[in-house]
Amino acid sequence: MLPRMRWAYVDGRYHREDRARVPVLDRGLLLGDGVFETVRVKNGAPEYFQDHFERLQASASLVRMRLPWTREELESVCAGVCRRSSLRDASVRITVTRGAYRGTLSDTGDPPRLIVVCADAEHLDPGLRSKGVSVSVASFPRVHAIDPRVKATAYLPAVLARLEADAQGCYESLFLDGRGRILELSTANFFVVRGGEVLTPPLRLGILAGVTRKTVLRLARTSGSAAREAVLRLEDLPSWDEAFLTSSVRGVMPVVRVGGSRVGSGRPGPTTRALMRAFAEETGRPLDR
Ligand SMILES: Cc1ncc(COP(=O)(O)O)c(C=O)c1O
Repeated sequence: MLPRMRWAYVDGRYHREDRARVPVLDRGLLLGDGVFETVRVKNGAPEYFQDHFERLQASASLVRMRLPWTREELESVCAGVCRRSSLRDASVRITVTRGAYRGTLSDTGDPPRLIVVCADAEHLDPGLRSKGVSVSVASFPRVHAIDPRVKATAYLPAVLARLEADAQGCYESLFLDGRGRILELSTANFFVVRGGEVLTPPLRLGILAGVTRKTVLRLARTSGSAAREAVLRLEDLPSWDEAFLTSSVRGVMPVVRVGGSRVGSGRPGPTTRALMRAFAEETGRPLDR
């Protein structure tokens, strides 16, 4: 079967992805001066789009960038790249950069640039969800130079952590802060289940307020589990019964090993499986994707 032709949106127009171009003076490229969102599209419609839009607006405003697009315009571009690419189920990346670099860091008079690309969401290996994944622990602490509520395009620490994870045969990498407290993974939030409680690191430690994290906390509470923020440390791993990660692209994914140590039974546990089911029901995604 021929691979599908994908489409992208740059500077107000749709282009075939292989012909879409960003100018060499773009500030996102040269300076990492941009913000972004990754949104899951299901049956042609972006999921939890209000949450993603609000977070994009907050990111932009915290770095003093003004977004000239309405929620409806951005939602329609997300749906537009998927429709042109014949993708009903996709992950869509919305990037907004501060436009062209005019020679000084502070000359920011250019209008922002919107780039939207999509990828097939069906690439996820169903075995990952049924067996669970192993995660490594990043060899360096994560420190934020800017407000962690900003979902900024500068992902070099995350890239380095993922290269470490790959080298160790792991699926993801867990970040700790300088005091050994667990933060989140390179592109996902982290949860554990301990004594029937669903626990996740507090936002005040400087982690991304994940859209899926918020949804899963709500689903856990409505299903009768106690769910709350708690400071987590690797030393406490023997007391964890289960662990899982969350992200818009991957939903709820069981974590069965952390830093080489087995979590609980080493298999996806009952609370994780119940949350996977509840999330799949709410979003209409198949359970294994
Ligand atoms: C650092 C980080 N944490 C958490 C998440 C998960 O957030 P969400 O559930 O909104 O996709 C992401 C997603 O890209 C991320 O990059």
